[in-house]
Amino acid sequence: MSDVVIRAPSPADAEALGALGRQTFIDTFVTGFGIPYPEDDLAAFLDASFSPEATAAKLTEPGAAWWVAERDGALLAFANAGPNTLPHRDASTSHAELRRLYVAKSAQGLGLGTKLLALSLDWMEANTDGPLWIGVWSGNLKAQKLYAMHGFEKAGEYQYPVGAWRDDEFILRRG
Ligand SMILES: CC(C)(COP(=O)(O)OP(=O)(O)OC[C@H]1O[C@@H](n2cnc3c(N)ncnc32)[C@H](O)[C@@H]1OP(=O)(O)O)[C@@H](O)C(=O)NCCC(=O)NCCS
Repeated sequence: MSDVVIRAPSPADAEALGALGRQTFIDTFVTGFGIPYPEDDLAAFLDASFSPEATAAKLTEPGAAWWVAERDGALLAFANAGPNTLPHRDASTSHAELRRLYVAKSAQGLGLGTKLLALSLDWMEANTDGPLWIGVWSGNLKAQKLYAMHGFEKAGEYQYPVGAWRDDEFILRRG
């Protein structure tokens, strides 16, 4: 994808970034994996995670980093890393976590995820004083395979809230 630009997002990207996150979540977990989220839980989660306001606020989080991939003015993918939030006994907020790695359905399988992951991991290694952490849905074998290829191993499990619904997630660690 030679005409793709990878850059840091600005506040002006909040709306498009949130829309990409919302659509990719729906395509992946609702349409793709068929997780039967109750409608209200899904709506509350999507708004809290991906509304323009929520996205704008997340972009200002101290200690976090973002990357977007853009082609012809349209966002295709993004990644977000920052202080660890995963509930593992060996984890601390001084460790780095990959919070999201989302490639639009139409742009998957072209290497963008790998490219954004590499950038994220470089940043995370420079901004951690311990291991690196990723939370991933237990049924998301494609993402798990990608993370395993980059040295991540399963270190635990937890429940990720989607409204009042709980997804079974794996905690992955590198280092
Ligand atoms: C998982 C995801 C980040 C991978 O990014 P991508 O740009 O599609 O993947 P890449 O083209 O960089 O390929 C990376 C690896 O993924 C795997 N992969 C790619 N397309 C695949 C497919 N259609 N089926 C299965 N595995 C596939 C391959 O192992 C590939 O490695 P390879 O280069 O040795 O073939 C992306 O598909 C995505 O955003 N999915 C939806 C959201 C999601 O699941 N995010 C992760 C949540 S933790």
